[in-house]
Amino acid sequence: MNYRYLGQTKLHVSELCLGTMQFGWSVSKTDSFDIISESIEHGINFIDTANIYSQWAEDNPGGTAETIIGRWLRKTSVPRDKLIIATKVRGQMGKDPNNQGLSKSHIVQAVEDSLRRLQIDTIDLYQTHWPDEDISIDETLAAMDTLVKQGKVRYIGCSNYTARSLIEALWSSEKNNTVQFHSLQPHYSLVNRTEYESDLSSVCKQYKLGVIPYSPLGGGFLTGKYHANKPLPKSVRANKAQHYMSEKNFQLIRTLESVAQLRNKSISQIALSWLLSQHEVTAPIIGPRTITQLHDNLGSVEFQLTKPELEKIDKAST
Ligand SMILES: NC(=O)c1ccc[n+]([C@@H]2O[C@H](COP(=O)([O-])OP(=O)(O)OC[C@H]3O[C@@H](n4cnc5c(N)ncnc54)[C@H](OP(=O)(O)O)[C@@H]3O)[C@@H](O)[C@H]2O)c1
Repeated sequence: MNYRYLGQTKLHVSELCLGTMQFGWSVSKTDSFDIISESIEHGINFIDTANIYSQWAEDNPGGTAETIIGRWLRKTSVPRDKLIIATKVRGQMGKDPNNQGLSKSHIVQAVEDSLRRLQIDTIDLYQTHWPDEDISIDETLAAMDTLVKQGKVRYIGCSNYTARSLIEALWSSEKNNTVQFHSLQPHYSLVNRTEYESDLSSVCKQYKLGVIPYSPLGGGFLTGKYHANKPLPKSVRANKAQHYMSEKNFQLIRTLESVAQLRNKSISQIALSWLLSQHEVTAPIIGPRTITQLHDNLGSVEFQLTKPELEKIDKAST
């Protein structure tokens, strides 16, 4: 495993981040423990979660993934300072209409809830899950500034921002002398390039932000297990992943497969390796459902694609 600095922070993170949206949804609590342990065993030191994970699953009130991580942290012998824990705030928690958003009052409450569920004193990276148009960014960043001063949060980042909202936030920090976002978590993969590449990537480059793309395998599509004339794989992700089933994307899969065969790698390893080779990317956030999938994902860091391979993949995906 290699390690990279997350933007201009002092956080030295593994080049794969373990995502946990699947915990308590498609992965049982016991299996979630095994996936965290195995990830750490293989050098991952960076875990991404969110307060709302995974409240869309049946009988899941939210907070489940954080609770699982907290219980794992309590029983592990891995020292707390060897791990970088990232979580997020913004989504609706429970039924109270005020228990959501990026207002000062919600952030101040939400961070306490996350710290309690995670059973830690400090969140290494606290991210706004998506923008809140009803609250001024100045208020959000002032609240974050207080959390950093109180030692409850080390750095802040954001997710699902447009280039415009990201620049507005960075200027707000400068104007008000408050903490600034040091990372962006965009939806970015070979089947979802435009959103990030059109203008977000240049903002991240200019402001030296860390970039941690989510859904790097298109929810499973970029593994090659979706086929035009076969039933969908049995997966809670199939409903969304099937939106990628177009002739262009199947051609992309064939290109990835041809590269994979020559390299003796899997299609998903090639897709992750492509992401790892993109300039501004710090660490794709993987979401393995099983240990076998985790091992497959981990294999993406053991090699680098050549320039002709990258060009071939670029051509098939744009
Ligand atoms: N900020 C945000 O708004 C946001 C949104 C989404 C996700 N995230 C973060 O990003 C993380 C990863 O997102 P994601 O789960 O969408 O990532 P992904 O890598 O695109 O999809 C992961 C899914 O693909 C399938 N898969 C992975 N490796 C495989 C393999 N080797 N063989 C076959 N199938 C494989 C599994 O689903 P099946 O086996 O069920 O098919 C797995 O759960 C999340 O856990 C979360 O931390 C953030």
